[in-house]
Amino acid sequence: MSDETPETPVDSPPTQADLDRPWRIWASVIVGGAIAAGAVLGLVLIPAGQRSHSHLSMHSAMSRAMGLSEGSPARVQPISTATAYPVSQVSWDPAVMAILRAGSTTRGAQIAKENCSACHGNNGVSAGNFPSLAGQSPEAVYKQLSDFRSGARVNVQMSPVAQKLSVADLANVAAYFAAASREYSALGSRDLSGDTATVTLAREGDSHRRIPACLACHVNGSGGPIETPVITGQSADYLLRQLNDYAAGTRHNDVYGRMRDVSSKLTPAERDRMARYFEGTL
Ligand code: HEC
Ligand code: HEC
Repeated sequence: MSDETPETPVDSPPTQADLDRPWRIWASVIVGGAIAAGAVLGLVLIPAGQRSHSHLSMHSAMSRAMGLSEGSPARVQPISTATAYPVSQVSWDPAVMAILRAGSTTRGAQIAKENCSACHGNNGVSAGNFPSLAGQSPEAVYKQLSDFRSGARVNVQMSPVAQKLSVADLANVAAYFAAASREYSALGSRDLSGDTATVTLAREGDSHRRIPACLACHVNGSGGPIETPVITGQSADYLLRQLNDYAAGTRHNDVYGRMRDVSSKLTPAERDRMARYFEGTL
């Protein structure tokens, strides 16, 4: 039999190249797509965004992105005109505490009589525009005197007085006025009263405006910073001047800018009411 078995057409087995082809195509599509997307992003979209910020034409923004034209040259920055001013040099380290402990009330009384009484009255009970000192802690008096001495706080009348004294004498007068306070206390607890808004601000602060309660720091024996002055009983004229000076930044010897921050958030009317509230006359 010469019957020929009909030849079944058998495909030749696919070569490796045939198997790889679809992968090559997909790889080329992916790489090409990524390059195209990168080009659109880097040469069109980002320059288009920069164009509106930098006031460039689309053409120059694109040619800068392609590196064909120069980018923005570095501009000369204006020189700062802000003036530096000295900040408080007082820190409550053991050396300062030792100076304060060594303060002599006898020597302090003599200095006070010769240098301070003309303005701050006998025994630190002042009148008019001058702040009273009797009732203040030695730390508060020392802190302010040091700041007048270093230039961190400036006042035409006080600065020359403080600059004349040695550091040890600052501690001596501070000790004197703190001791005088026990006898002649011009400052200290008062029956404070006023309208609800003022009383609430003093006692609780205002959380919406991030104003802390004044009385949290300005009461004897409470937890405020060590140098916190007593303000209850102080003259309203003096208190208002200080609040306005802090708000304007012309008084800037408060550590961490705490009082500048508080005062600048108060309205002028609130500062006025606070001053009279703490004087005890609102
Ligand atoms: C020529 C007047 C004058 C003399 C003298 C004077 N002071 Fe003053 N003192 C002032 C004035 C005014 C202020 C308020 C300054 C201000 O408004 O910033 C002040 C403020 C102070 C303060 C800050 C009070 C506070 O609560 O922040 C202290 C402390 C002080 N004086 C201590 C003294 C001592 C101590 C002497 C003497 C060694 C003295 N002063 C002499 C006028 C004077
Ligand atoms: C976080 C504590 C703190 C709070 C809250 C605070 N104070 Fe003061 N205050 C101080 C300290 C500390 C000083 C002294 C700053 C310095 O060294 O000059 C001061 C100073 C002052 C002075 C100047 C007193 C003087 O004798 O020179 C006035 C006025 C005053 N504060 C009013 C207020 C009022 C009003 C409020 C509330 C609206 C307030 N403070 C809230 C800590 C505080």
